[in-house]
Amino acid sequence: MKIVVTGASGFLGREVCLAALRRGHEVVALGGSRAPVIPGVTQARSFDLCSASALEALVLEEFPQAVVHCAALPTIEACLANPAQAAALNTEVPKKLAQLCFHLGAKLIHVSTDTVFDGVAGNYQPTDQPAPLNLYGETKAAAEVEVLRFGREHAAVLRTSPIIGNSPSGERGLHERLFVAWKTGQKVALFTDELRQPVEVTNLADVTIELCERGNLSGLFHWAGTEALSRHEIGVRVARHFGLDAAELVRAISRAEVPTAAARPRDLSLRLHPLAGKLRTPAQTFDEQLTALRVPRGCEDWYEKVTGRKVVRRLEKGIDF
Ligand SMILES: NC(=O)c1ccc[n+]([C@@H]2O[C@H](COP(=O)([O-])OP(=O)(O)OC[C@H]3O[C@@H](n4cnc5c(N)ncnc54)[C@H](OP(=O)(O)O)[C@@H]3O)[C@@H](O)[C@H]2O)c1
Repeated sequence: MKIVVTGASGFLGREVCLAALRRGHEVVALGGSRAPVIPGVTQARSFDLCSASALEALVLEEFPQAVVHCAALPTIEACLANPAQAAALNTEVPKKLAQLCFHLGAKLIHVSTDTVFDGVAGNYQPTDQPAPLNLYGETKAAAEVEVLRFGREHAAVLRTSPIIGNSPSGERGLHERLFVAWKTGQKVALFTDELRQPVEVTNLADVTIELCERGNLSGLFHWAGTEALSRHEIGVRVARHFGLDAAELVRAISRAEVPTAAARPRDLSLRLHPLAGKLRTPAQTFDEQLTALRVPRGCEDWYEKVTGRKVVRRLEKGIDF
């Protein structure tokens, strides 16, 4: 199957390309400002998805059987810094892709986020009503509506949770952000009463490709790990996994101690039903996710000094995993 992957220079998109190759598919990898450099991918280029006419020409020229759409402004901060770009990339581009895929009869996998919910109730089902608390969630929730409007029969919207794993930059994964703070001497304050349900990046990537392959699976789905954990527990378990002193590196705080916390979703746990029962790719426990993690690039010296353990250095940035 020929699969176009957007956001392929990013954290998830890169792994989606690798998962597609592992499963024997042909990949066209699109980065944004950066051309993706991914072992085994021969068709890779930088491409501005916000140019609707260029996007149409590209999709018609490539004529893929599936598109996995990972490109986004994927943080609250990035969306607030550039609201027009957030609306264009997070909402208008998926809408255009859904129209084009409908026209071609191609499958569209649109990656969405737990942040479409307000976090009041938690344990969300795919049928629960989104109620975003911030611009990022708003633009992603609007995209879900558009994608399903054009693609109810052939599109899958996949809502997911904070992604853990080894990123090309060494700074996008959940554990990597902790390491970056730890190596600069910060004791990181993490909420004991804010819940998230992490997912490991290669597991999530496998699910996107399995969805491409399964023509009958369309609609709105959730995918994450099997466990909802407090941010504090995530930090403690990451530290312990790497043999670090969690008491030295992580500080427990409650939302009541931080006035701005009320504006953040409290519990974004997701129910994986019905997708979990339909896929070969299993949802992972947090312990299983931890086994995939490496000491982030740039943190090796600090880690060796603190633990006395030796770290195998990896190759040049971006091309060795
Ligand atoms: N990361 C998480 O924890 C998380 C959690 C839940 C959901 N998600 C969702 O998962 C998806 C992937 O997130 P991610 O963490 O992999 O993001 P990421 O690492 O920040 O990657 C974003 C990608 O979008 C590309 N891009 C940005 N502007 C573009 C444009 N105008 N045209 C074409 N491409 C453009 C970037 O390209 P360049 O860098 O080359 O410019 C990059 O490849 C997103 O839909 C996000 O909402 C992520």
